[in-house]
Amino acid sequence: MKHVAVSQHEFVDMRYWSAYFKGTTSAGSCTSNKLIIQNRKMMSSLPLTVAALCCVVFVLGALPFSSDAQLDPSFYKDNCSNVHSIVREVIRNVSKSDPRILASLIRLHFHDCFVQGCDASILLNDTSTIVSEQSAGPNNNSIRGLDVVNQIKTAVENACPGIVSCADILALAAEISSVLAHGPDWKVPLGRRDSLTANRTLANQNLPPPTFNLTQLKSAFANQGLNTTDLVALSGAHTIGRAKCSTFIGRLYNFSNTGNPDPTLNTTLLQTLQALCPNGGPGTNLTNLDLTTPDTFDNNYYSNLQSQNGLLQTDQELFSTSGADTIAIVNSFINNQTLFYENFKASMIKMSKIGVLTGSQGEIRAQCNFVNGNSSSSTSFGLATAATKESSSEDGIVSSI
Ligand code: HEM
Ligand SMILES: *[C@@H]1O[C@H](CO)[C@@H](O)[C@H](O)[C@H]1NC(C)=O
Ligand SMILES: *[C@@H]1O[C@H](CO)[C@@H](O)[C@H](O)[C@H]1NC(C)=O
Ligand SMILES: *[C@@H]1O[C@H](CO)[C@@H](O)[C@H](O)[C@H]1NC(C)=O
Ligand SMILES: *[C@@H]1O[C@H](CO)[C@@H](O)[C@H](O)[C@H]1NC(C)=O
Ligand SMILES: *[C@@H]1O[C@H](CO)[C@@H](O)[C@H](O)[C@H]1NC(C)=O
Ligand SMILES: *[C@@H]1O[C@H](CO)[C@@H](O)[C@H](O)[C@H]1NC(C)=O
Ligand SMILES: *[C@@H]1O[C@H](CO)[C@@H](O)[C@H](O)[C@H]1NC(C)=O
Ligand SMILES: *[C@@H]1O[C@H](CO)[C@@H](O)[C@H](O)[C@H]1NC(C)=O
Ligand SMILES: *[C@@H]1O[C@H](CO)[C@@H](O)[C@H](O)[C@H]1NC(C)=O
Ligand SMILES: *[C@@H]1O[C@H](CO)[C@@H](O)[C@H](O)[C@H]1NC(C)=O
Ligand SMILES: *[C@@H]1O[C@H](CO)[C@@H](O)[C@H](O)[C@H]1NC(C)=O
Ligand SMILES: *[C@@H]1O[C@H](CO)[C@@H](O)[C@H](O)[C@H]1NC(C)=O
Repeated sequence: MKHVAVSQHEFVDMRYWSAYFKGTTSAGSCTSNKLIIQNRKMMSSLPLTVAALCCVVFVLGALPFSSDAQLDPSFYKDNCSNVHSIVREVIRNVSKSDPRILASLIRLHFHDCFVQGCDASILLNDTSTIVSEQSAGPNNNSIRGLDVVNQIKTAVENACPGIVSCADILALAAEISSVLAHGPDWKVPLGRRDSLTANRTLANQNLPPPTFNLTQLKSAFANQGLNTTDLVALSGAHTIGRAKCSTFIGRLYNFSNTGNPDPTLNTTLLQTLQALCPNGGPGTNLTNLDLTTPDTFDNNYYSNLQSQNGLLQTDQELFSTSGADTIAIVNSFINNQTLFYENFKASMIKMSKIGVLTGSQGEIRAQCNFVNGNSSSSTSFGLATAATKESSSEDGIVSSI
């Protein structure tokens, strides 16, 4: 199982999960949510803390993520007040020659958050102790932007050494990328810390493949505490970026072993895609996820679905699954781009809080690709060893389950 560390401040968020426990009788000293909420104001009270700890372990045993109470958009105001503009300048510069980088950075944050939380675990490279998530099926030869994240980290370290986590850099980069693609802006909650571990198995388990049906998609998102509205809003990130033939070739020739193409794929688009993606070919050609405005963050992703021009099976299913509750949400985003933006912002913030490490948990990595305290890796980057201590078991509450 994954290592989960939880601090006291997170108790309050259990309100959010209380629905899961309605109707179940409490186990041992795990008492009502009321107690837990009160406990936040009485944190020095040891018995209550112990009672709440019991509940935290119980909750985390059932759900793969903790939550967020301590993140704050002004977290770095006293020790790295320029972090947003530093990150922005690097991305703006890179995007002049590589406009796709905006899409790639948004996706990187998503692929980080769905695997043991938004903890920069995706950035850890293979070492003797780390099995990198970067070569998990959904990431291998697919994620981009790792070099740009390192460029950002270097620029940020030059200004404020040892202060800003790689996980926060990924969250900021996603928001900045949205803005640079003419999409919405939002205040990014900050204060995440970086993991000491990665988990390729979990990446393969948690990152949804483009062949999932709507039921499977909903369940993959529900596993991360994200609901159907979040699923539809976040899928709207496919308004920018590219996909390889291998991710949708199953729709083009022999869909679900029917001997025919996917009937929900626009026949004009089908012809274009068949020319681009020869049957039995390597599937390495790329095409735009949004065929109308490929690099602009707008609501055309949703209008494409209306004309059967969604590229991935998972895109089109949001609109073409008969009787689905997602159809009305898609229609509402087609009719009102502001509504899409508002929902996208809220869902991105929600996603960015999944399973975060805060306080003294994890660390601020000196180099995003390696955990600290590896003299071999820190020397090779000419960086001093970590400025911050690793989490200790005496402060906060640490459970390993
Ligand atoms: C709903 C389930 C999702 C599935 C099945 C899915 C699947 C995919 C696939 C297969 C690709 C193409 C990868 C390649 O060809 O190498 C892709 C690209 C992309 N995805 Fe998703 N995705 C999903 C949700 C999301 C979410 C929630 C976000 C962000 C909020 C996101 C952002 C992106 C972006 C921006 C790209 C383009 C990346 C680039 O051009 O480098 N996706 N996705
Ligand atoms: C990685 O995740 C898998 C699947 O949830 C879990 O069984 C395994 O214990 C985890 N491994 C580590 C090293 O945390
Ligand atoms: C911008 O990119 C160019 C190369 O494309 C590089 O020479 C320059 O140093 C970069 N500037 C910043 C501020 O990152
Ligand atoms: C980490 O691995 C990636 C490939 O996944 C590679 O491109 C990058 O150079 C590695 N980073 C370092 C610092 O070795
Ligand atoms: C990742 O892709 C490379 C090909 O680029 C392949 O050699 C390697 O086996 C893949 N890794 C995994 C874990 O599948
Ligand atoms: C930066 O400031 C925040 C907010 O005051 C603080 O919690 C954090 O510990 C500081 N970071 C470091 C590495 O000292
Ligand atoms: C979705 O896929 C799952 C697993 O293959 C299957 O059990 C379920 O019936 C499918 N649901 C729909 C609506 O097709
Ligand atoms: C999804 O969650 C948000 C709050 O995060 C809520 O406003 C929205 O109504 C929920 N949508 C559904 C379909 O439950
Ligand atoms: C489609 O795939 C199935 C299963 O692999 C196969 O039996 C069938 O012959 C294929 N049909 C065509 C037209 O290729
Ligand atoms: C890439 O697309 C072109 C058409 O634009 C096609 O002729 C070529 O065979 C494709 N290459 C691969 C490797 O699929
Ligand atoms: C297919 O897409 C074109 C635009 O590319 C659109 O005009 C047409 O109506 C679409 N067909 C269907 C059946 O939606
Ligand atoms: C569009 O959505 C926004 C945000 O929810 C709302 O304020 C506005 O009234 C909506 N516009 C229309 C025309 O419904
Ligand atoms: C330390 O980093 C180097 C790469 O710089 C890697 O080869 C080695 O396995 C790492 N050691 C540990 C214990 O992570």
